[in-house]
Amino acid sequence: MVALSITNPVLADEAATRGEKVVDQWCRLCHLRAADPPNPDMAPPYEKIVQRPGRDEAYFVRFLEEDHFPMTIYRLFDDEKRDVVAYLLSLQRK
Ligand code: HEC
Repeated sequence: MVALSITNPVLADEAATRGEKVVDQWCRLCHLRAADPPNPDMAPPYEKIVQRPGRDEAYFVRFLEEDHFPMTIYRLFDDEKRDVVAYLLSLQRK
């Protein structure tokens, strides 16, 4: 595993921007956007997910390493996973 604590804010921003694109491409099938009306048939927006207790970097890294029903169709490259985690953490800081 690559240590991915991103300490440089500029690099973290760039990673988060890339991560947002990955999410738009692969994850919007199921995950709502923050501005969408609530929909029980859809997965929650990331803005909500990052507010849950215990959702830190280590948690998201682990989560993206595993398959989760019904999220079994997605396979991200390692650098994409890193970028998605950076994106999630950037939402958490807002
Ligand atoms: C086929 C539908 C589907 C797709 C595609 C999908 N998800 Fe999900 N996701 C879900 C469902 C359903 C949940 C569970 C809802 C919940 O935790 O409330 C979930 C939960 C999550 C969680 C919360 C985990 C937790 O324990 O809090 C994260 C993070 C997540 N997904 C990330 C992603 C990412 C990143 C992608 C794109 C690479 C993605 N998902 C694509 C359906 C999907």
